[in-house]
Amino acid sequence: MAELQEVQITEEKPLLPGQTPETAKEAELAARILLDRGQTHSVETPYGSVTFTVYGTPKPKRPAILTYHDVGLNYKSCFQPLFQFGDMQEIIQNFVRVHVDAPGMEEGAPVFPLGYQYPSLDQLADMIPCILQYLNFSTIIGVGVGAGAYILSRYALTHPDTVEGLVLINIDPNAKGWMDWAAHKLTGLTSSIPEMILGHLFSQEELSGNSELIQKYRNIITHAPNLENIELYWNSYNNRRDLNLERGGAVTLRCPVMLVVGDQAPHEDAVVECNSKLDPTQTSFLKPGKLTEAFKYFLQGMGYMASSCMTRLSRSRTASLTSAASIDGNRSRSRTLSQGSESGTLPSGPPGHTMEVSC
Ligand code: BEZ
Repeated sequence: MAELQEVQITEEKPLLPGQTPETAKEAELAARILLDRGQTHSVETPYGSVTFTVYGTPKPKRPAILTYHDVGLNYKSCFQPLFQFGDMQEIIQNFVRVHVDAPGMEEGAPVFPLGYQYPSLDQLADMIPCILQYLNFSTIIGVGVGAGAYILSRYALTHPDTVEGLVLINIDPNAKGWMDWAAHKLTGLTSSIPEMILGHLFSQEELSGNSELIQKYRNIITHAPNLENIELYWNSYNNRRDLNLERGGAVTLRCPVMLVVGDQAPHEDAVVECNSKLDPTQTSFLKPGKLTEAFKYFLQGMGYMASSCMTRLSRSRTASLTSAASIDGNRSRSRTLSQGSESGTLPSGPPGHTMEVSC
């Protein structure tokens, strides 16, 4: 019997006058982003209702990418710059995305009544099964930032069979110790809640630089109509339990994990420590800049991205990602991707283009 061959059929669209293939591709991408406005849903959970927005159409036998944002942000302010970045389109067209807004953080959310008991981070993680059940998804690849990274890790610890991979940006897996509490209380005497949250999102260098980006986020947080709700999420974050991760121990993340931290980010030490507690054969540790490209390697390692989607540079270097201590001395034995001089936080926009993958 003749062998069946998989043939890829691509639709050829005629170019408009004056259009080059590149500008046509850019116009198509812009149109697709404009058309896909996402569908917002809410579900009831034992800890109150939770809102999430779904982009893209479900792909058979593929996990959904589920994101969870940090304190002071919502899914849009946290993830839009990344997911609408041109190079991300290869990834997102292969996955449906489910962007969760922590309760009270969704656009237009009313302020919770006085005395409202905001869920703990563990309870926020326990709301995720209701979302997956509603959407009929059995597995996810989680992408979380800060508090969101903690929530997704907690979810992965309690529901390991439903998490195929995790991208954790600026995670701090530890509960606050008494020294942290003392520092937190002292800072609280002289700083407002928005300033404390900005200190969590950005490094001191970035804050004192007071760039347009910092001014933008300072403005968003200070004038947020739901600032009281933001403070409740902030309190839950500060009251988090220790994840108690232990390399090779009973409590560890069993799925592939990509840890990301910014140069001089407020959580650099915490992420480095988290890296030391995870399985080195399952964990990649990198600094941002080439987040998109690293995300592609990560998905490819899980069998979800064809190597043809990667740049020639990436393909030639994928093979050489090995155990490395290049940026991390001997603290890390896991695969390490580092990016030369560029740094930044996720909300600052698309990752840069220059990257050194050192091995
Ligand atoms: C997405 O396509 O997944 C997306 C779109 C807008 C904001 C955030 C994410």
